[in-house]
Amino acid sequence: MAEQGEKRRRLVLIASPLQGHMTPMLQLGSYLHSKGFSITFAHSELNPPDPSNHPDFIFLPLPDKLSDTGGSSGFIQFLQALNNNCKPHLQKHLIQIIDEQKASTQKESIVIIHDNLMFCAGSIAGDLGLPSIIVRSSSAACVPAYRIIPQLHKEVRFPVEDSLLQEMVPGLDPLRYKDIPFISLTTQQSLKLTTLFTSKTPPVAFIWNTIEFLEQSALTQIRHRYKVPVFTIGPLHKTSPTPSNSFLEEDTSCISWLDKQSPKSVIYASVGSLATMDAKVATEMAWGLANSNQPFIWVVRPGSVHGCDWIEFLPEDLVSEMKVKGLIVKWAPQKDVLAHSAVGGFWSHCGWNSTLESVCEGVPMLCQPFNNDQFLNARYLSHVWKMGLEIVEERGEIESAIKRVFMSKEGEEMRCRAMEIQEQIKVAVSHGGSSQNSMDDLVKFILSL
Ligand code: UDX
Repeated sequence: MAEQGEKRRRLVLIASPLQGHMTPMLQLGSYLHSKGFSITFAHSELNPPDPSNHPDFIFLPLPDKLSDTGGSSGFIQFLQALNNNCKPHLQKHLIQIIDEQKASTQKESIVIIHDNLMFCAGSIAGDLGLPSIIVRSSSAACVPAYRIIPQLHKEVRFPVEDSLLQEMVPGLDPLRYKDIPFISLTTQQSLKLTTLFTSKTPPVAFIWNTIEFLEQSALTQIRHRYKVPVFTIGPLHKTSPTPSNSFLEEDTSCISWLDKQSPKSVIYASVGSLATMDAKVATEMAWGLANSNQPFIWVVRPGSVHGCDWIEFLPEDLVSEMKVKGLIVKWAPQKDVLAHSAVGGFWSHCGWNSTLESVCEGVPMLCQPFNNDQFLNARYLSHVWKMGLEIVEERGEIESAIKRVFMSKEGEEMRCRAMEIQEQIKVAVSHGGSSQNSMDDLVKFILSL
């Protein structure tokens, strides 16, 4: 905490407009504010946070000229446009903040804390001579995995041939080539992405929404490579819970419906905030749930099924049958759903936040990754933490996977494993645990800048 007579710190947090990135950034801001720092929260106009949940922050909307997150296909163009469009506004505001500081009698030194997707902030910080810290909202294991791509380029082995995708990557156990984030990009797209993330000014530290024991090996490699402090302060929804920041309205009927179900009987199915799929894949999901004989909550995010507004692609008799056994909603209060005693399994796309939220509640997972880091997370869930089952989206397969999780010895073992990890996380986030210690260290580090 800033003490009397000590120079104060103004932290400028720069968030990206993705659900899985915005929420942890707000949680981080709340924690740092509780430690006495002033928080300026810069964000794009797309998917803005609700200022009323954080009355002590100064919000700084950055005009971005964007109307959506680009979907999975246009993600690189989206990132480029986001950064190009926000950059001049962010730069102007930072210069203004610096000038105000120079003129003020109450001196505050400025520290930039930015989402890794908002790479423009790192280069502006470098130009203005401000220290910058990168916040990572995906797993640490992504970094060593992603770093294999330049090597594949060098050896002219990129894009990876289809025949190799199921093979293990030498030195990256337990990952197969298909698990590497962005492995399906073209050579040109991959080079573009690498260029975008290469900043000439290195950060002074990283803040990672992960837990030390869960990703020890990847974190050791990251520390060795970057030689700056890496603060592992996750899972932020436990270490610094905040009011919900859902971009879509949460359907709270999920909780009253869950209250009427038996313990550990319900399967919760959701593919997160970005993944999209064909009606055929979504229909297989629907049949899998309908035939599973387990009660379920299925989140179908509006627009997540290609060419459809919501569930109009499903046959009416199937919808009627589904409504007898389960609930279909547009967006759920996911953290509360996973924490509910009636939930016994999570059929997920394995986004990093969903993974952490399930792990924290000891809920075993059915893993159906769609893109980016999700294959890697699914691989860790199934092969390292052994609390998840990888599935393919075919009706018979889905039904049998659900049965394996809910009714087999294998499922029971996965549940035990999930609960063991849950216990370890409780220790990490409690007083004296690794995440709490890392949060204290982060505060001391910022005060040392
Ligand atoms: C994707 C990636 O897969 C992720 O790893 C990356 O870091 C960000 O982009 P996303 O699809 O948003 O993320 O998934 P995830 O990281 O799991 O985040 C989704 C968030 O939305 C979670 O916090 C989840 O609780 C919330 N959510 C999802 C709801 O609150 N309600 C829902 O119905 C569905």
